[in-house]
Amino acid sequence: MTEARKLNVLVICGSLRNGSLNKAVARTLPELAPPGVTIKEAPPFDAFPLYNADHHQATVFPAAVTALADAIRAADGVIIVSPEYNFSVPGALKNAIDWVSRLKDQPFKDKPIALQSASGGPLGAARMQYHLRQIMVFLEAFVFTRPEVFVTFAPQKINEKAGRITDGPTREIIKTQLALFAKFIERVGAKH
Ligand code: FNR
Repeated sequence: MTEARKLNVLVICGSLRNGSLNKAVARTLPELAPPGVTIKEAPPFDAFPLYNADHHQATVFPAAVTALADAIRAADGVIIVSPEYNFSVPGALKNAIDWVSRLKDQPFKDKPIALQSASGGPLGAARMQYHLRQIMVFLEAFVFTRPEVFVTFAPQKINEKAGRITDGPTREIIKTQLALFAKFIERVGAKH
């Protein structure tokens, strides 16, 4: 019997806010991961300039951009946890994706990706997830499908002070997603 490979998963949070509900989801992931899966936070993208092709030469990128891209490339899989802004992907996250997408060895290509989101409303930022899924299709990522994780009415399920998910069913669905995402990585993520 062959032993399961150890997997390194990177989590990117789409909210910059200190008390973010989505950051709380991201912070809870390591304790919900299956054995052998390590989940760590991505390098920050809050200081990325607004992408403008006039302002950078094709070969010179800000150090923070290459740090994020390198971390994505080095990971076996990536989880993006994000709020929804105006029915779509928050601008800062989209800007970060736009920056790393201009690098030569585009880091999301062939990368297993899982999506999660939290909001105070009844849809849990579902509309954002479908836009993000579409972006990831263009970038030729391998986007995990089911189960989807939408943390609806998030303030009721998250202890905002502790920055952790407290709701049992929410923890269970995330546990299931992480276990199946690990299997998905084993199946499709043969690059490493
Ligand atoms: C929101 N919010 C929001 N919620 C939602 O479910 N659908 C939406 O389209 C929007 N749009 C939106 C736009 C902007 C500019 C802001 C600031 C907020 C509410 C949002 O889900 C809520 O503030 C979350 O708590 C933000 O996530 P974090 O920062 O707590 O992770």
